[in-house]
Amino acid sequence: MKTFKRHLTALAVSAALMPTAAVQAGEVEVLHWWAAGGEARAAAALKEMMEEQGHTWKDFAVAGGGGEAAMTVLKTRAVSGNPPAAAQIKGLDIREWAELGFLTNLDSVADAENWDQLIPPMISDVMKYEGEYVAVPVNVHRVNWLWVNPEVMKDAGVEVPTTLDEFFEVADKLKAEGYIPLAHGGQPWQDATVFDAVALAELGPEDYRKAFVEHDMDVINSDKMEEVFAQFAKVMSYVDDDAAGRDWNTATGMVIRGEAAMQIMGDWAKGEFTAAGLTPGEDYLCAPAPGTAGQFTFNVDSFAMFSLTEDEDIKAQKDLARTILEPEFQTLFNQNKGSIPVRTDMDMGEFDICAQASMETFKASADDGGLVPSFSHGLATTSYIQGQIFDVVTNFVNSSNPDPVKTTDQLAAAIQSAM
Ligand code: BGC
Repeated sequence: MKTFKRHLTALAVSAALMPTAAVQAGEVEVLHWWAAGGEARAAAALKEMMEEQGHTWKDFAVAGGGGEAAMTVLKTRAVSGNPPAAAQIKGLDIREWAELGFLTNLDSVADAENWDQLIPPMISDVMKYEGEYVAVPVNVHRVNWLWVNPEVMKDAGVEVPTTLDEFFEVADKLKAEGYIPLAHGGQPWQDATVFDAVALAELGPEDYRKAFVEHDMDVINSDKMEEVFAQFAKVMSYVDDDAAGRDWNTATGMVIRGEAAMQIMGDWAKGEFTAAGLTPGEDYLCAPAPGTAGQFTFNVDSFAMFSLTEDEDIKAQKDLARTILEPEFQTLFNQNKGSIPVRTDMDMGEFDICAQASMETFKASADDGGLVPSFSHGLATTSYIQGQIFDVVTNFVNSSNPDPVKTTDQLAAAIQSAM
């Protein structure tokens, strides 16, 4: 008996002392679209943490803001039976991939790490399919932000606008001083991002939700929506003539350099200011998009995990999922990315004033109804319906004679046909 026990103990000790066993280091291929300055720095943080654990990081970056190009490439890879380990997939699309049987169950990690306690249920629900985790959330981006160059505002003698009417007044003065009032890139998702902020300002959170989450035709096909398009056209009239095709980070660069005064964009734009070594409150300002103070359009980045066959790659994939929700990663990644941690228990002391304001508004708006999922970033609806809305918005922007009434009808028809 004694010998048997000793033998077992010896086995256990030698197992513990064994160098990293065969099923330890794997490869993790990660599809994302984080190619801009701040985005790339954020992605590098994840890569480093995976490599520290002995795994190999295979970068699968498909450039293109908003991720449309990345999703097209992902579909081709998945259909040919060769998906990556993890892919940046958001919102309701996670469920669609799971329904098709592509995703793996992450419950062993989620249970061990207590994800249900760490993440707000509104977000963890989106990460689950039939009650099981198939994706892990990375962050919370706020979409309804205004980024401002204070020097330019000072030079033009104007203050940061808090309503759309103030925005129009300020923009006129900036224009008269020779500045581009609004930096923007003419790409469908960027047009939709500005439209998203104007819609929230005009409709308020309740009707925003009715229109873009519930697809309530009484709101979609209404005078209010006509007014949204009218105000949107006015906002877009302050964009320069060279905006077609411009990337969002190039537009942020125009604000950084003082060529343009403001940009309406989610807080991944802050990643660009951070990467340029600038300090919020001094070198640049962050303010709620005009007319949306206290409200929060949320956009959560998440990695859906695909079914794999090799044991060591499965181990690497689970380590990736675990690492993403660790406090160290949540801090480092979000400081670079411009977003806030998805964990609600994090100390915000190490974050800048924009992130602190964001977290405060995120929590307060969750309680008072001001928190809405962003339709332009795939949190409110499937990417199919989202695509239909994008088409209507972009045609409106590119029309030589934009007509809010006709476009409201087109929006209603597009959403109805996609449902
Ligand atoms: C993503 C962000 C990304 C941005 C620009 C958004 O849809 O959620 O992570 O930085 O697009 O590419």
